[in-house]
Amino acid sequence: LVLVLDFGGQYNQLIARRVRECNVYCEVHPYTMTLEEVKAKNPKGIILTGGPNSVYGPEALTYEKGLFELGIPVLGICYGSQLMAHVLGGTVKTAPVSEYGKTEVEITETASKLFEGVSTPTICWMSHTDYIEKAPEGFSITAKTPVCPVAGMENAARGLYAVQFHPEVLHTVEGKTMLRNFVRNICACKGDWEMGSFIDTTVAQLKEKIGNGRVLCALSGGVDSSVAAVLLSKAVGRQLTCVFVDHGLLRKNESEEVSEVFGPEGPYDLNFIRVDAHERFYEKLKGVTEPEQKRKIIGEEFIRVFEAEAKKIGKVDFLVQGTIYPDVIESGLGKSAVIKSHHNVGGLPDYVDFKEIVEPLRMLFKDEVRQVGSNLGIPDKLVRRQPFPGPGLGIRIIGEVTEEKVRIVQEADYIYREEIAKAGVDKNLGQYFAALTNMRSVGVMGDFRTYDYAIALRAVMTSDFMTAESAQLPWEVLQKVTNRIVNEVKGVNRVMYDCTSKPPATIEFE
Ligand code: XMP
Repeated sequence: LVLVLDFGGQYNQLIARRVRECNVYCEVHPYTMTLEEVKAKNPKGIILTGGPNSVYGPEALTYEKGLFELGIPVLGICYGSQLMAHVLGGTVKTAPVSEYGKTEVEITETASKLFEGVSTPTICWMSHTDYIEKAPEGFSITAKTPVCPVAGMENAARGLYAVQFHPEVLHTVEGKTMLRNFVRNICACKGDWEMGSFIDTTVAQLKEKIGNGRVLCALSGGVDSSVAAVLLSKAVGRQLTCVFVDHGLLRKNESEEVSEVFGPEGPYDLNFIRVDAHERFYEKLKGVTEPEQKRKIIGEEFIRVFEAEAKKIGKVDFLVQGTIYPDVIESGLGKSAVIKSHHNVGGLPDYVDFKEIVEPLRMLFKDEVRQVGSNLGIPDKLVRRQPFPGPGLGIRIIGEVTEEKVRIVQEADYIYREEIAKAGVDKNLGQYFAALTNMRSVGVMGDFRTYDYAIALRAVMTSDFMTAESAQLPWEVLQKVTNRIVNEVKGVNRVMYDCTSKPPATIEFE
């Protein structure tokens, strides 16, 4: 285990990703974790992340000196490096010029274990306004730039290493090599963390934890809940019941696809209950136009339906949640502003009678979840599925939701996805879908005037869904989709493409 202590920098999840890419298991914890807690984890290495603060400010986030005296190798990155310098008696100051972006770094100590196999100079990603002016006693300087006298320092005998730049971002061309050197060579981690072993250990742990207990899972057909359900099915078979609530706001055919995989005809050993609740949802959404209110209604109704089903099943011992690692890390620090509420539809049902929550994916990143899903033999259709919001098409229909509008957006979206797949242009797309605008406009069909809806197509490229760029889809593909939608989908006479990035727009329309 490598422990990443988080000081609030923006690339911190990336550090964990990179370490795991070296087949070394790692966990991110807030810097408030105590020294005792650190010791109890018995890590083979510790990484201190970047962060927005200054080590000398009144609000400085810091850590006690004892961390550097455990005999466990420590790598400080950016803020982490300054913290190491500051705590151990070096000097940190505001740099005369801040460095930002790709920077040529000279490796002055090529024999450093951290830089084994790294060329000099090497391009690194810098982003700092403070710098280490003087390294603490006992440290040698291992890298520098014209602006930054201590871009790298180490005290190899004590296992302490620090870099001012960010090895975790891809712009640092040889960053992966450096991180690998740290975790595999300096910390001597074996590198045997793999998804296969994850499945075996998790299934064994679940078996042990659950015993003869009964387990309830809200299955959405999304990647996370599907993978969680299959892991539990492997562990406890029919002690598991999955409830799939079809709120009538799913994409075309989706409800059937999920039922085929998890239903009695599918390969998994579990109880599957599909609840067709679309009428209930449409009824509640009648006349509602405000996005946040729609979200709230859909979320609440979802919970009510789920609870009603759970009541029929009676007392269960465990409730499954498909929480994944980014959620855990984010809620640990919890500081981002709420732009749209309810990103996790369902939340926790209040009235389900259960003892404990199980979260088998708590420690995995999204792509690791997908990999586990593939290893478990879950069809690509589910495992490679693009993200789909909990409130579903409810927030892709601007304004009031009606059955007719749901049909329109389902058909249009289906055509769009089909043509994108046929043209093979989905490789770099984070998300793509059709939405139904609330605009009707005049058109002409044959000799008749029409007054119909406009469909908006969206396709974005994104790595984290926090920011996104509109994708430049080939014009022929857009034309083909447009022609098919206006010809095949009754009620639509116009198709538009959304060219806006996020920010200022968001990915979804509501
Ligand atoms: P936005 O529209 O905020 O979307 O740029 C970012 C990502 O979040 C998804 N999203 C949601 N997911 N419930 C969800 O479960 C929601 O209410 C919700 N709103 C947006 C969106 O699909 C995208 O992946």
